[in-house]
Amino acid sequence: MNLVASTKVQKLTASIFQEVADLKQQALNRGLDVIDLSVGSPDLPPPAFVVEELVKYASNPVNYGYTLKGIPEFHEAVSFFYQRRYGADIDPEKEVLQLMGSQDGLAHLATAIINPGDYVLVPDPGYPIYEASVTIAGGVLYSMPLLAENNFLPVLEDIPQQILEKTKMMILSYPGNPVTALADRSFFEKVINFAKRNNILIVHDFAYSELIYDNHPQISFMSVPGAKEVGIEFNSLSKTFNLAGCRIGYAVGNGQALNILGTFKSQIDYGVFYPIQKAAVAALTSNFTILQEQVKEYEFRRDTLMAGLEKSGWQLAKSPATMFLWAKIPAGWKSRQFAFELISHAGVAVIPGDAFGKQGEGYVRIALVQPPERLSEAAARIHEFLVEYAH
Ligand SMILES: Cc1ncc(COP(=O)(O)O)c(C=O)c1O
Repeated sequence: MNLVASTKVQKLTASIFQEVADLKQQALNRGLDVIDLSVGSPDLPPPAFVVEELVKYASNPVNYGYTLKGIPEFHEAVSFFYQRRYGADIDPEKEVLQLMGSQDGLAHLATAIINPGDYVLVPDPGYPIYEASVTIAGGVLYSMPLLAENNFLPVLEDIPQQILEKTKMMILSYPGNPVTALADRSFFEKVINFAKRNNILIVHDFAYSELIYDNHPQISFMSVPGAKEVGIEFNSLSKTFNLAGCRIGYAVGNGQALNILGTFKSQIDYGVFYPIQKAAVAALTSNFTILQEQVKEYEFRRDTLMAGLEKSGWQLAKSPATMFLWAKIPAGWKSRQFAFELISHAGVAVIPGDAFGKQGEGYVRIALVQPPERLSEAAARIHEFLVEYAH
């Protein structure tokens, strides 16, 4: 059989994560110990009471049917969580849509909303599904550069009027991946006015809402007046409660947009496993002490790695949030060459920044998904690598 992928799928680029995983395997085959700081999958455990809830419901055979959609308790729990954590009012019935991870929603939203030829504004660098979902939908991408000199915020005034006339949607993420910067309230207010003026749906990805450090405020787009008129926010239990493999997340906000996405999704999947929904309810309605402990652990990891790297003269900008460092690489290197040689020679796996967009050249993304001792060891190896292979 000679089978060729559809033209849409042909346009998607191969995942960098696979390429890095292959290099990692080659290094392992050569007997090298590899410290994997590439994929943002949490290494920390979910809270014990959440696992207990999951096990309790999973041990009852009546809970194995299709759920079709979120149970009312889950909707209530999300509304409670949004009020408690971010001071945002969310109507549990009309303003919550359950998802199989926020990736599910991010991947399908463009197909539900975008017609061929519609423009979508996406951040560069940005999390890969933003671009891929628009490509699948046949939409046209317009990249908004996120530059250090603009605090990694897009300059809305730079987007030409003729593009705005054709634009239906804009995707933002603060804090994001790979760019870990935060936005303040005034930026979100500006975005809301911009969206109203130009009739654009705002999609805010808030997957790292609970990994925010140094007492920076956690600002949900939904807590800003007017946000629900123009936008939705994706969130997830993957990073907040270390439930990445359970595939449970949600979108909140504009009821019309959520309805459209929900209608499309009703043709695609038949809901999240009931025990996972119950475990998520337990997590979202808990006393949240685990969240503070987790923030401390990631802060410590970040500081440990940064202190280690400073010794080798590689000074990184301090990540205010997320499980990543968005690290400007030493002069003379290209992102891919740096990342690939680092795996081969030093056994430290990171992701080259250009995998997230053109503006990511000159950076690598380092995930803080190893215990502090391993991060110290990674810093020591990077030091040796920089001395030996200096450009
Ligand atoms: C910025 C961002 N958004 C969304 C996701 C998807 O997460 P999930 O589908 O597990 O909620 C990720 C995962 O790494 C992410 O980094």
